[in-house]
Amino acid sequence: MKLVFATNNQNKLKEVQEMLPESIELLSPKDIGCFEDIEETATTLEGNAQIKANHITNNYNFNCFADDTGLEVDALNGEPGVYSARYAGEPANAENNMQKLLSSLGETVDRKAHFRTSICLNLDGKQFLFDGICKGEILTEKKGEKGFGYDPVFQPEGYNKSFAEMSSEAKNEISHRGLAIQKLIDFLKTYQPNN
Ligand code: IMP
Repeated sequence: MKLVFATNNQNKLKEVQEMLPESIELLSPKDIGCFEDIEETATTLEGNAQIKANHITNNYNFNCFADDTGLEVDALNGEPGVYSARYAGEPANAENNMQKLLSSLGETVDRKAHFRTSICLNLDGKQFLFDGICKGEILTEKKGEKGFGYDPVFQPEGYNKSFAEMSSEAKNEISHRGLAIQKLIDFLKTYQPNN
């Protein structure tokens, strides 16, 4: 079965292809001739994942899935959430986003937060949603050099290291995206087209 992953991030594509059974051939938007940017205009993670998956299915007639991720901070009423990539404004800049987050929180004691990934799958005319959550807290300053985005200021629950101090393998095992993708893969492995 051919399945499009509506992302232009080559690392995400490679990671997911390695986890999928051989019967599923993962395609990128470019592989099917889709070169346009799909605007993420929804106000929820689910909504943005749906926009991306629906764009491919409706315009190119392929089974497709898409993901969207946000960092939801309790003391900021779930911000930056769906606006995580551009929290400090355009163009997206991870350093500025982290500085804005640290100054918004200031001395706040309750620093609980979680990353959440939503995946929308369009398969044979039906739509399925999966999510993955990684709970943790926002540190008072940056720690570590690895990873991307908010990794240096996020410490997952049960660890005394930030995401930016963990290897990508260790992070993928517990991360929001890793958990959501695992749910998607478990579903695809047992999926029977005529159900
Ligand atoms: P995307 O939906 O995967 O593009 O994620 C949206 C934004 O959330 C990114 O631009 C990052 O700012 C942030 N983000 C997503 N996943 C992670 C992560 O694993 N670590 C740190 N930041 C992340």
